[in-house]
Amino acid sequence: MMRLDKFISSNTSLSRSQANKEIKAANVKVNGIVVTDGDCKIDENNAKVEHNGKQINYNQFIYIMLNKPQGVVSATTDTKQKTVLDLIPNEYKKYNLFPCGRLDKDTLGLVILTNNGQGAHRVLSPKNHVQKTYAFKCAEPLLNEDKQKIEDGILLKDGYVTKPCKIQLQSPFCGIITLHEGKYHEIKRMFGAVSNKIVYLERISFGTIKLDTNLKRGEYRFLTEKEIALFENK
Ligand code: URA
Repeated sequence: MMRLDKFISSNTSLSRSQANKEIKAANVKVNGIVVTDGDCKIDENNAKVEHNGKQINYNQFIYIMLNKPQGVVSATTDTKQKTVLDLIPNEYKKYNLFPCGRLDKDTLGLVILTNNGQGAHRVLSPKNHVQKTYAFKCAEPLLNEDKQKIEDGILLKDGYVTKPCKIQLQSPFCGIITLHEGKYHEIKRMFGAVSNKIVYLERISFGTIKLDTNLKRGEYRFLTEKEIALFENK
């Protein structure tokens, strides 16, 4: 069972408060009857909900956590290379899943596959500062002054200055880096800007969601209700 206002906001472009306005204005019918209370609980799988006479379909959102191996591209289709969707059974193809944010072909770790476009857009938007953490190894020892430069925000070759980030070193050659944005090849380019080189990169968390250490490379599981909240809390 689901609240009517949540059903509408999750399955249309209306926000929860816009949905409530529409409900109060008697523009919403459930199973042919006008309902004016957004709190009304409906059976989301069977109820026929109409807004201004137009039926709203129930989009069942799916969320999968994948432990991406190396050598797989974060795309939905590719004519030559294996994609993250090739690691998911065919029965889920009908849900039009896509990866929420991209990892490079040689980067490992946490990828979330979903069909919730709005939710994914929201968590990826730089405005929302959802933090991502990566375990890294670099080819040269990371000097303190270079670590500081990267943490403060560094000028990349294309003229972009990265946002401040945090690095916790575990040894001069490896550590954890936490970013609030995700530009193309960002971490590799940050290390390149201090004449170093990333030789291993693994995403270990995305917002509140941590890579499940029970998943082997290439394995997946569904997100838990608690994890889904990152995408569905409005
Ligand atoms: N930064 C990179 O350089 N590569 C990734 O895959 C993710 C972040």
